[in-house]
Amino acid sequence: MAALTYADYLNVDALLGLQETRTPDSASRSVIQAEHFFIVTHQSCELWLKQVTIDLDAAAEAMAPPYGPQDEELALEFLDRTVELLRVLHGQVIALEKLPLRHFAEFRPYLDGASGAQSAQFRLLAQLLGGDRQQGRLYRAFEQLAQHRGISVAEVCVRGPGAGVLNRIADSLLDVANGYWRWKMTHLALVSKMVGNRKGTGGSTGVDYLARRVTLPFPELRQLRAQVHEKVLSDGRDGAGG
Ligand code: HEM
Repeated sequence: MAALTYADYLNVDALLGLQETRTPDSASRSVIQAEHFFIVTHQSCELWLKQVTIDLDAAAEAMAPPYGPQDEELALEFLDRTVELLRVLHGQVIALEKLPLRHFAEFRPYLDGASGAQSAQFRLLAQLLGGDRQQGRLYRAFEQLAQHRGISVAEVCVRGPGAGVLNRIADSLLDVANGYWRWKMTHLALVSKMVGNRKGTGGSTGVDYLARRVTLPFPELRQLRAQVHEKVLSDGRDGAGG
C-alpha cells in the first residue's frame, strides 16, 4: 500500500480549489488577484474560528461537572491557546489593510448580499464569550468550577496568585476577551479605511453599526478585579497606621 502523502493527509487539492472569485474574466488580473486575497483571508478566518470555538468549547467542558483533579490545567491550556489563535485572527485582518481600495471597489458589487455578519462561527464565539451585558457559557462554567472548589470568583480575584490555577484561568479569560475586542477594533478600523460611511453588503449602516457592537466580555470579572485595588490601598493604609 502506498504511503500516505502530505497532499492526501491534508486534502490540499480540495482546499486549494475552494477560492472561487466572482469578478468576471474581462476585469484586469489585479482585480481578480485582489479578490483572491480577500477570499483567502476570510476562509482562513473561518478555519481559525473553527479551532477557536472547538478550544473554547473544550475549555468550558473542562470547567463543567464531573470535576477531575486536572480539569483546571486542561481548561487553562485551551484558554491560553485561544489567546494565541486570536492573535493569528487579528493578523489576518491587519493583512487585509493591504487590499488596494481601487480593486476592492471594483469587485465589491460581486459580493452581493454576502457579509461577515452572517458568519455562524463568529456568532458561536460571541455566545461562548458573552458580551458586556449578557454572560456567556465560558464565564458561567468558571463560576461553577470556583464554587465547586469552595471559593467565589471574587475571592479568587482578591487572593490573586494565592488562588493558584483559578487565578491563572481568570487572567487567561481576560486575555481571551481582550484578544476578541482587539479583533473587533481592528476590523472596525479596516472597514472604516475600506468603505468609509458606505453601507455594508449585509445591509447595516457599516462603521456605525460595527462600532456599537464592539464589546468587552466578562464585565463581572473586570468589576471583581477592581476590588484588588481597594484591598491593596486599604492594606497600605492599615500598614501605615500599624
Ligand atoms: C475589506 C475587508 C472587510 C470589509 C470592508 C468588511 C465589512 C464589514 C461590514 C460593513 C460589516 C457590517 C455588516 C454588514 O452590513 O455587512 C462587517 C461585519 C463583520 N465582518 Fe467584515 N469586513 C471585512 C473583512 C472581514 C474579515 C477578514 C472577516 C473575518 C471573517 C470579517 C468578519 C466579519 C464579522 C464576523 C462581522 C460581524 C461583526 C459583528 O457582528 O460585530 N470581516 N464587515
